[in-house]
Amino acid sequence: MTTKPRLLTGDRPTGRLHLGHYVGSLANRVRLQYQYESFFIIADLHTLTTKPEPNYIKEIPTFIRETVLDYLSVGIDPEVSAIFVQSAIPETYQLNLLFEMLVTVPRLERIPSLKDMARDANMDTMPFGLLGYPVLQAVDILLPRANVVPVGRDNQSHVELAREIARKFNNLYGDVFPEPEAVIGDVPLLVGTDGQSKMSKSLGNAIYLSDDAQTVDEKVRAMYTDPKRLRATDPGTVEGNPVFIYHDAFNPSKAEVDDLKERYRQGKVGDVEVKKKLAIAINNFLEPIREKRAYFLAHPTLPNDALANGIKRVQAEAKSTMELVREKTGLGYSSNFFADEVDIFGEYD
Ligand code: TRP
Repeated sequence: MTTKPRLLTGDRPTGRLHLGHYVGSLANRVRLQYQYESFFIIADLHTLTTKPEPNYIKEIPTFIRETVLDYLSVGIDPEVSAIFVQSAIPETYQLNLLFEMLVTVPRLERIPSLKDMARDANMDTMPFGLLGYPVLQAVDILLPRANVVPVGRDNQSHVELAREIARKFNNLYGDVFPEPEAVIGDVPLLVGTDGQSKMSKSLGNAIYLSDDAQTVDEKVRAMYTDPKRLRATDPGTVEGNPVFIYHDAFNPSKAEVDDLKERYRQGKVGDVEVKKKLAIAINNFLEPIREKRAYFLAHPTLPNDALANGIKRVQAEAKSTMELVREKTGLGYSSNFFADEVDIFGEYD
């Protein structure tokens, strides 16, 4: 059996995934899962860094189910990849403490994404756990000893920290961890339906993988286009126009897209037609994803087993990593402590 390098990435369970997730990461994961031994984490503990309250925790199981269904529906294959939930791996909490000793506070304070997260959560001062967000992420990556981590640019500095922690640990205690490499996607962020730079749940400008056809029709009909174009006979701008960005991303007929662009520029097509064709293209794209989702919903033992197996697999990896960690650090005393070959009274002989 040849051993493939390991890949780990994932998401915080905060809701259903949308087209932006698909373009930015899911498509890539589906492709890479056959090239690497892949682990996909649903990082529920990370959501506590800004939302530790029980009324938010109560929502997590629903979000985890949605995320698993989204993963499976887009083609993450549970026969080859492990989908797992972070909090189901107790070793996560243990290794986190050891890693905390290997990072300085100023080093963490320099990570820009943390300030953004604090600001988005309306926090004027940062909880210790939020400062430790990337340390916990390093644990996620290093527990199953992953080699590559496909993430967006906003997470690049987190993977860099994971490398530093791995290096520091190995230098202090001996080799346990590989130095993971970030793989940054080259696809630009997908704009929202409102033309804002990023599709996101919180901005309310997302088309979800689980949206039905009618919802997609309505969202596309309401999409932001060229604001300077008042009539169908006005020449319009194609570049940077969300409707055409989506056409490029989801309409497989390049001929149709080119024709629409050409006529749009000349003022020979109305927004209605452009949007109608876009809604059709997106619905065609989403249809097989919806069908799979419906199938998994109708056969809940499948997603259930997928998750249970993924968790079991990562639990086994975590156990063997922690055995190595205990061995190298010399921590974690056994019930046979006094019977161990180490003669702790030796020096008094
Ligand atoms: N930080 C990631 C996010 O922005 C989620 C995440 C948690 C993650 N642990 C990870 C990503 C490990 C890659 C690897 O939502």
